[in-house]
Amino acid sequence: MLRGKRILLGITGGIAAYKAAGLARELTTRGAEVRVIMTRAATEFIGPPTLQALSGHPVLCEGGTPPAGGDGMDHIAAARWCDALLVAPATADFLAELAHGLAGNVLSTTCLALEHRPLLLAPAMNRAMWQHPATRSNVRLLADRGARLLGPASGLQACGEEGPGRMLEPAELITALEQTFAPGRLTGRRLLVSAGPTHEPIDPVRYLGNRSSGRMGYAVAAAAAEAGARVTLVSGPVALSPPPGVPRLLVETARQMHQAVLAQAPDHDIFIAAAAVADFGLDPVPTTKHKGSVLRLELARTPDVLVSVAELAEHRPYLVGFAAETEQLRERAVAKRQAKGLDMIVANQVGHDQGFGDVETRLLVLWEGGGVQLQQAPKPEQARRLLALVAEHYDTDTHTAAHH
Ligand SMILES: Cc1cc2nc3c(=O)[nH]c(=O)nc-3n(C[C@H](O)[C@H](O)[C@H](O)COP(=O)(O)O)c2cc1C
Repeated sequence: MLRGKRILLGITGGIAAYKAAGLARELTTRGAEVRVIMTRAATEFIGPPTLQALSGHPVLCEGGTPPAGGDGMDHIAAARWCDALLVAPATADFLAELAHGLAGNVLSTTCLALEHRPLLLAPAMNRAMWQHPATRSNVRLLADRGARLLGPASGLQACGEEGPGRMLEPAELITALEQTFAPGRLTGRRLLVSAGPTHEPIDPVRYLGNRSSGRMGYAVAAAAAEAGARVTLVSGPVALSPPPGVPRLLVETARQMHQAVLAQAPDHDIFIAAAAVADFGLDPVPTTKHKGSVLRLELARTPDVLVSVAELAEHRPYLVGFAAETEQLRERAVAKRQAKGLDMIVANQVGHDQGFGDVETRLLVLWEGGGVQLQQAPKPEQARRLLALVAEHYDTDTHTAAHH
């Protein structure tokens, strides 16, 4: 899988930098072409000559002598040359630089100049540094922008403490790189994703909303694009940017969501409904602002997006719904899947201080005659796991249907 692939290996200044030598060696053994870029701090942990010998090419590094042999590759050329850029280890400091778009050294400049190629980051640091809110927020920002976070693993650390922050082993990083180059499991499929909350106006200035952040739906849209699908995103009001190359239709109310999804659904093979659509809204909406000391609202049922798509007589896409429940997760998810005629349902626990807006999530995925629990993971990773299941079941279900 890695034969002939051009891998740019970025190394930053952490204890785990020594493992990058083994990684470079393993990559070249598998036939990849490897070029190395090191930060100044990285060169204090491991010498550029080691990496030069292992990669077979001069190392690009801060303050280093210009590469010998007329190889003149600079940061822009490096970003254009590679098929993927993997930073291993990625320090807390480097993640902060990237999150803020800083370009103060040759590696961060290369990352900023990278276009249309995967950026993979393998963080390695003390557990308190990893768990610090600043690092959490930097990592979230980077993941939202499409960077792929690999690890870290939990365990005994170089500093003697125990917890999350160990860099993944070279073999695990290589598996992740191979997955990046695996032919997309959804290549050629058209995928419609709904995401975010809806806002139901109760007068010209106020609305009823819910706590959906849109993160899960956006992560699904990004992972589907990554897996080769042509993706359309229908989104309620959120504070997120659409993944690169994914067209987005913005809506506000449940009724608008219903209209947009029904117009799009017949042109798609798969519909993943991650939006938290309001079940109730005011109809009609008063045209003047409410006044007085008491406000009484009579809410009417909004149109059911999932049921309408499930009932499409022609071109009904493969249908994946979400269920956010505060209790009896499995029972309610099973019932919802049957009641709404879904092919697959993804249940997540909300309330009890988790669910909406959280960066990490556990999911229970159920289909006809089976199911699987996806253990706690960041939403982008969870979205990739979910799409692998969707691709597999979509293939078997449509294959079976074709034979009936
Ligand atoms: C002995 C030593 C070990 C360090 N190990 C780590 C580490 O594992 N992870 C990390 O994020 N920072 C670590 N640091 C801090 C970084 O080296 C420091 O933030 C540096 O500025 C990172 O530079 P860079 O991100 O440009 O490579 C370590 C510092 C020292 C002195």
